[in-house]
Amino acid sequence: MPGGPAERPATRVRRDPGGPLLIEGPVEVELPDGSLVRSDRPVVALCMCGRSGIPPWCDTSHRGRRA
Ligand code: FES
Repeated sequence: MPGGPAERPATRVRRDPGGPLLIEGPVEVELPDGSLVRSDRPVVALCMCGRSGIPPWCDTSHRGRRA
């Protein structure tokens, strides 16, 4: 089927173990309040640990020391 799902390029997503979800950008993320945030970076890091100060983006806080 022309223009069907098989012809569209797939978005590649990679999980950094213990870190963010890495997604080929640009990316738009819909937040719980319905607002949209966008990143035009070639690779976008989404926080998966809940410690980022700039959610939904990773700010490398996941690398912090663990007590
Ligand atoms: S995954 Fe990096 S700050 Fe959460």
